[in-house]
Amino acid sequence: MSANTPPVLEIRDLHKAYGSLEVLKGVSVSANAGCVVSLIGSSGSGKSTLLRCANLLEDSQQGEILFSGEPVTWKGHAMNRHPADHRQVTRIRTNLSMVFQQFNLWAHMTILQNVMEAPVTVLGEDPSVVEPRARALLEKVGIGDKCDVFPAQMSGGQQQRAAIARALCMEPKALLFDEPTSALDPELEQEVVKVIKDLAAEGRTMIIVTHDMRLAADVSDHVIFLHQGKIEEEGPPEDLFGAPKTERLQQFLSATVPA
Ligand SMILES: Nc1ncnc2c1ncn2[C@@H]1O[C@H](COP(=O)(O)OP(=O)(O)OP(=O)(O)O)[C@@H](O)[C@H]1O
Ligand SMILES: [Mg+2]
Repeated sequence: MSANTPPVLEIRDLHKAYGSLEVLKGVSVSANAGCVVSLIGSSGSGKSTLLRCANLLEDSQQGEILFSGEPVTWKGHAMNRHPADHRQVTRIRTNLSMVFQQFNLWAHMTILQNVMEAPVTVLGEDPSVVEPRARALLEKVGIGDKCDVFPAQMSGGQQQRAAIARALCMEPKALLFDEPTSALDPELEQEVVKVIKDLAAEGRTMIIVTHDMRLAADVSDHVIFLHQGKIEEEGPPEDLFGAPKTERLQQFLSATVPA
């Protein structure tokens, strides 16, 4: 990658409030191609809000969001600020595929249909082109034999792996994960952690919100600790987990990492 390639996603000084509640108070995050950035922090610190603002599911009031160097264009100001260009929103959103804690698979569709749905309906791709890709992705995440079953017939770990295959089927430039393992029992969690580690090893660009400090330590190039809507500390995982500088991060880690 050349030195002047812009980050896949860059967020500069982002501010977001819900009414009078300031949730993000000037947050900057940069994810270069092939890098994994993890967001950690207590409940309510603004991690999910940041991801939702990044892929334009939520409006923000101040600051910039750049996708591969292209700034989001806005109309209006402050509480009335909204993205100005719907085509740009669709382009960015389809390139930043999101994986949620609760999988969010369509209950009435088979797993294969779930994975094929967005490329066919949003991107307008030919189903005959999408289907082999979807099957290969389900194979890749270890559930190639589940193409024709419905989500309710699968374990949580299998459903989350299907959700990851669905995100990958959009061929996004980056994947955004919001607590992908939090709804899972420990042994099912490991199936999903393995898939995420494989994706990191392949050089996928990912931003991962997680409570799993071991996952963050293992896969991240950069870790960001959010506290009450601000970045309290950030750096390589060795530094954040090995030698946390701020008292708040030290407290957070001592409360979350098992002894
Ligand atoms: N739609 C909303 N309307 C009003 N307030 C909201 C909304 N979504 C989130 N908030 C508030 O914004 C703050 C940050 O929430 P957010 O979901 O981003 O936290 P989080 O860091 O992801 O927490 P958790 O670890 O529990 O998932 C919280 O105080 C929350 O109550
Ligand atoms: Mg959250």
